[in-house]
Amino acid sequence: MNSYYQMDVEALQNAMSKDNSDGLNPFLVIATAGTTDVGAIDPLEQVAALCHEYNTWFHVDAAYGGFFMLVDQMKEKFKGIELSDSLVMDPHKGMFIPYGSGVVLIKNSENLLKSYSH
Ligand SMILES: Cc1ncc(COP(=O)(O)O)c(C=O)c1O
Repeated sequence: MNSYYQMDVEALQNAMSKDNSDGLNPFLVIATAGTTDVGAIDPLEQVAALCHEYNTWFHVDAAYGGFFMLVDQMKEKFKGIELSDSLVMDPHKGMFIPYGSGVVLIKNSENLLKSYSH
């Protein structure tokens, strides 16, 4: 984590590289787009690039912060979220919907089906 409470991409790369050399297969990275405590948004483009390099599923937890994308001044900060394989957004948070509601968006539903069938 850096001083803005964002994911340290270099540390992530080192961890994934070490996993690979140890014969492990990192299959999922979860970045956050708007942490609840401080609103930190991880460097999504860089994380996406790493996931692409390691053929790893890239999920974004935008449960709290995702809807702030609708604010013009905030859009830039979410660059890279479109590269995610899946993301979650909670209308009951940023949209102030008065009952619990979570939305999962998945880019390629075939991949989801494959991961839940055998
Ligand atoms: C960033 C983030 N992710 C996930 C959750 C879980 O959300 P819920 O269980 O309300 O859908 C929360 C809840 O506060 C959150 O802030």
